[in-house]
Amino acid sequence: MNDALRHPLFKQIGAIADAKGLQAFVIGGYVRDYFLRRPCTDIDVVVTGSGIDVAETLGRQIGSRVSVFKNFGTAMLRCGKWEVEFVGARKESYRADSRKPIVENGTIEDDQLRRDFTINAMAFSLNGDTFGQLIDPFDGTGDLERLLIRTPCDPDTTFSDDPLRMIRAVRFAAQLGFDIEPETFDAIERNRERISIVSKERIVTELNKILLSPVPSIGFDLFDRCGLLPLIFPELSRLKGVERVGKHAHKDNFVHTLKVLDNIARHTDKLWLRWAALLHDIGKPRTKAYDPKTGWTFHGHEVVGSKMVAAIFRELKLPMNEKMKYVQKLVFLHLRPIILAEDVVTDSAVRRLLFEAGDDIDDLMTLCEADITSANDAKVKRYLQNFELVRVKLREIEEKDRIRNFQPPISGELIMQIYGLKPCRAVGELKSAIKDAILDGVIANDYDQAYAYMERQAAELGLKKIG
Ligand code: CTP
Repeated sequence: MNDALRHPLFKQIGAIADAKGLQAFVIGGYVRDYFLRRPCTDIDVVVTGSGIDVAETLGRQIGSRVSVFKNFGTAMLRCGKWEVEFVGARKESYRADSRKPIVENGTIEDDQLRRDFTINAMAFSLNGDTFGQLIDPFDGTGDLERLLIRTPCDPDTTFSDDPLRMIRAVRFAAQLGFDIEPETFDAIERNRERISIVSKERIVTELNKILLSPVPSIGFDLFDRCGLLPLIFPELSRLKGVERVGKHAHKDNFVHTLKVLDNIARHTDKLWLRWAALLHDIGKPRTKAYDPKTGWTFHGHEVVGSKMVAAIFRELKLPMNEKMKYVQKLVFLHLRPIILAEDVVTDSAVRRLLFEAGDDIDDLMTLCEADITSANDAKVKRYLQNFELVRVKLREIEEKDRIRNFQPPISGELIMQIYGLKPCRAVGELKSAIKDAILDGVIANDYDQAYAYMERQAAELGLKKIG
């Protein structure tokens, strides 16, 4: 018995195909992931005939609703944790100006030939007499052993059929730690301009998978080497390069960014924190300046970078919601813990950092630790020790002063009520004076002390209480 096909559903699909005089196969990711021992709950079934018809029969038998996509000739149903998609075997050819294929019915071999990679073109038969047989005409199992991404037919054809596959090649290389076979790689270089016809949404789905890979730098490094990087992510491409004046050279910010990304990938699986690592220095090219005395500077790159985040998210069709704001905030604050760690760690600096980072403080610390990529071991050690000190201080101050998600104990409304004011500058000044006094440790974070402080400040401003 083929272990991949233990679930009774597979036999049932085979029996339906037998009754209709069709062939049915499980194909693609499910077969690949079975050999790689990766969990997979998406099952692609290909039928030499109408996939929709087989899906509808199965749907009736197991009492499951079938979603039919007539235009694509596909149907989908759920069965417990499984999501099963049905499609007819096709022989496809694509027009040069669009992704929309001209589809003809084909054999299983036709269908396999027009899939993206050999490792994704393997199929298990589901029919009764051949149940569980592997059909692997392009030696996908061999490529799994050789750790190779290779196209089943001429790579120029595979990539011009669907240029997204160039990005998928890079994604599988990063996700699985595979190499892209040289001819396939050369074809990506040759066809890279064709990526312009692919939607941003499809590209970003792949970028997210690369970011969530164990070693995400593999993907971005490959994008750079095959020439796709400036086409799909120009801001990242602009981080590349080293400029030198006399003895002053700055580091290659692309290389540095990739190191930070790999560092953070060892500590978190949070997609948006990994995005923050990818974009933390994105403002550097725009702020780069040379000073003959001090060398290269990137003053304010965290401010410029955080402003660039929204434009990049919009361009890539990433969500323009609290996820974007989170990435913006981390990019904006990414230097703060380092500055703190370099200096004497005062309570008030820690309180201010806690106030600004709120609940994202731990993620910010993770980003900053990942940002230490110096080759000098002693320096790295010193930084990490100082960070530990910052973390201890953060815990102490948070316990004592509850600054995280801090709301000043005296609101603007209350100030207006007490002094009979309409919204005006004096109200804002009083409010921020109270906030600053708490963050600087002049008064404690409580109502009575804040009230007394407000009275003193108001008197200085010449304000009188009403009633
Ligand atoms: N496929 C293809 N060309 C594409 C996308 C998909 O040939 N541009 C084929 C491959 O055979 C692939 C199958 O369709 O295995 C299913 O595609 P998809 O679900 O997108 O990807 P998986 O290979 O299953 O991988 P993952 O689940 O990691 O996305």
